[in-house]
Amino acid sequence: MSQQSVTRRSALGLLGAGAAASPLLGGAVAAAAPVSPVTGTGSTPVQGLHLQFGKDPARQMVASWITDAAVRRPRVTYGTLDGGFGAVAQAETRTYVDGTSGRTVWVHHAALDRLHPGTDYIYAVSHDGATPDAGTFRTAPAGRAPFTFTSFGDQSAPQVTWAANGSVGLDANSTPATKDIVTGIETVGPLFHLLNGDLCYANLDVDRVRTWNNFFTNNTRSARFRPWMPAAGNHEIERANGPIGLAAYQTYFRLPSTETDPELAGLWYSFTVGSVHVIVLQNDDNCLQDGGDVYINGYSGGRQLAWLERELRAARSSRDVDWVVVAMHQVMISSSDANGADLGLREKYGPLFDRYGVDLVLCGHEHDYERSLAVRGVVSGSETLTPNPVSSRTDVIDTTHGTVHMILGGGGVSGTTNQSFFKDGTAKVITAVTPNPSGGKRTSVYVKEEAVWSAVRDLEHPYGFAAFTVDPGRHPGDTTSMYVTYYNVNKPSGELSVFERFTLRRRRSDG
Ligand SMILES: [Fe+2]
Ligand SMILES: [Fe+2]
Repeated sequence: MSQQSVTRRSALGLLGAGAAASPLLGGAVAAAAPVSPVTGTGSTPVQGLHLQFGKDPARQMVASWITDAAVRRPRVTYGTLDGGFGAVAQAETRTYVDGTSGRTVWVHHAALDRLHPGTDYIYAVSHDGATPDAGTFRTAPAGRAPFTFTSFGDQSAPQVTWAANGSVGLDANSTPATKDIVTGIETVGPLFHLLNGDLCYANLDVDRVRTWNNFFTNNTRSARFRPWMPAAGNHEIERANGPIGLAAYQTYFRLPSTETDPELAGLWYSFTVGSVHVIVLQNDDNCLQDGGDVYINGYSGGRQLAWLERELRAARSSRDVDWVVVAMHQVMISSSDANGADLGLREKYGPLFDRYGVDLVLCGHEHDYERSLAVRGVVSGSETLTPNPVSSRTDVIDTTHGTVHMILGGGGVSGTTNQSFFKDGTAKVITAVTPNPSGGKRTSVYVKEEAVWSAVRDLEHPYGFAAFTVDPGRHPGDTTSMYVTYYNVNKPSGELSVFERFTLRRRRSDG
């Protein structure tokens, strides 16, 4: 037996007895079959393994990985801890050609169905000739149950870019917190994570494909164990990558979208875990600000907004849903002298969030931490549609009466804005953009307002994330709670500390 065969058998032996009958191993383990000279050494490797929930997180998961070349038979073997790797799912392959480098990227997505709720699984992904890469995950509970999820945005990717002269130049977008925050998420160990846009700022880098690759390589040590569910931000809009610049994003992720137009699929989607319905939006459709490589305001022709209203109506008519959480990138509130709040979002989303009683809106875009009081309606006569606070409480908040907005943009990117908070109780709102026919970015037009909605800001720390622990209550009609902790990720070594804790409450919908 050749050394190569021995090595391969050893590696596969780690997969356990349950895998012996699976197609993953079928060709390689048959002792009599000749071993291809490239087997185990010549195949493009598995990179950037990451998970996403399917439409039913209690029963569906998607395992995804990247390759630098086309592969044969991309697949995942999986099973429970007790049963071993007994099942196999073939992967679907998506590709895009990066419009500036001409490079093709292959991403393989294996959808796992008919899983058991609240159960730990092991899985290994592979394709012909590749060393398998493996992870674990836990499916969501069925029905009302306690669990924890986490959220931040604006992370970036650890990056070293070769300068034009061949020297090494540090990429300006990432910081040590870009990596430390991943460790922070794993320390909390949530069921899932919401990543609120500006994932890796690939659009700013000369080598966009490698930046995306570094992003997944950095996050796989968490994202292979729990789904990181993304919202696309303005920095995911890349010149020459698809009709609205989001082709890379739509290739790297397979999200539980019901949109049938392939150009729009995966940009907005929803899922329910326990009694929490999560709605993920793509805000460049509805915000005024020109923040990406291409200005795509209005690209869905109202489809996203119509879908949002259907989602909200269905969630609020369900006796199984207590909490409605929206994850998106750009913001309706901000008192930092950075991007500012966006009137387009206030106009489009505000009435819907009010009518259907959205509990919590999680954003990024501003590279700081701020949260609002519970808000409903607008301050009378305000030209900026200033969100109207319904209570001054910041410790325990009844979201039946108003929506809490949280800006969680301290995910690790440089260019933090916690030092830019207005100190005079005001905020700025983007109320228009100037048309710019010469082809440059449209300039935002700002109007100042009183930040009567602002509750808590972290002026001191640039980086951090939030964790949300849901207590579903015991009986129909009980109060259900969401315990919120905002953690700082600190210099110099990435240790966590608690900036603040508060509680959201509302009555269960089955009362
Ligand atoms: Fe950002
Ligand atoms: Fe942004």
